[in-house]
Amino acid sequence: MKIVLTGSLGHITRPLAINLIKEGHQITIISSNSERQKEIEALGAVAAIGDMHDATFLTHTFKGVDVVYCMVPYPDIKKSFQEIVGEYTSVAENYKAAVLQTGISKMVILSSVGAHMPSGNGLLQYAYAIEQAYNQLPEHISIKFMRPVSFYYNLLSFIPVIKSQG
Ligand SMILES: NC(=O)c1ccc[n+]([C@@H]2O[C@H](COP(=O)([O-])OP(=O)(O)OC[C@H]3O[C@@H](n4cnc5c(N)ncnc54)[C@H](OP(=O)(O)O)[C@@H]3O)[C@@H](O)[C@H]2O)c1
Repeated sequence: MKIVLTGSLGHITRPLAINLIKEGHQITIISSNSERQKEIEALGAVAAIGDMHDATFLTHTFKGVDVVYCMVPYPDIKKSFQEIVGEYTSVAENYKAAVLQTGISKMVILSSVGAHMPSGNGLLQYAYAIEQAYNQLPEHISIKFMRPVSFYYNLLSFIPVIKSQG
């Protein structure tokens, strides 16, 4: 299958790409950094260099593809909750627009544990909001939400918050 992966050579996308390429799929990886192009190509994937905030770029990249894996990178945790939800939602809207314009019928969405709860889940309310946004897509578009728990390798980035809260 032709698959587009967002998330560059990040924690999830790199091993995912390696596995999918091994299985014979044609993989395109989106990165915002042109310096990653060679590394992406060395894996056996096509590099699409651009920004997930750019709906036109996403539409161009999604053309002729069978499945897209869509993620949103961690926002700056110094931003307010509203800003974080706004950023996640606007990227999700870009993905939705690109999928609608290109006729893709299969999406895999990186969500989070807690996304089933509209409230009482702290910052993870963003994940609920995003899933609701995707659920507005027409029914013929199949969406697989993945709701992982915390990734140990990202724990260190929370140290400033943990310290600031004593
Ligand atoms: N940590 C947890 O415990 C946890 C739990 C549940 C869900 N999650 C989800 O997992 C996500 C993180 O996934 P991950 O660890 O695979 O990501 P990651 O390792 O942080 O990699 C994400 C990559 O996306 C690329 N990127 C950043 N901004 C971009 C933009 N504007 N346009 C295009 N590409 C951009 C960056 O690479 P380039 O510089 O090459 O563009 C970045 O390295 C979180 O955002 C959250 O939604 C995390």
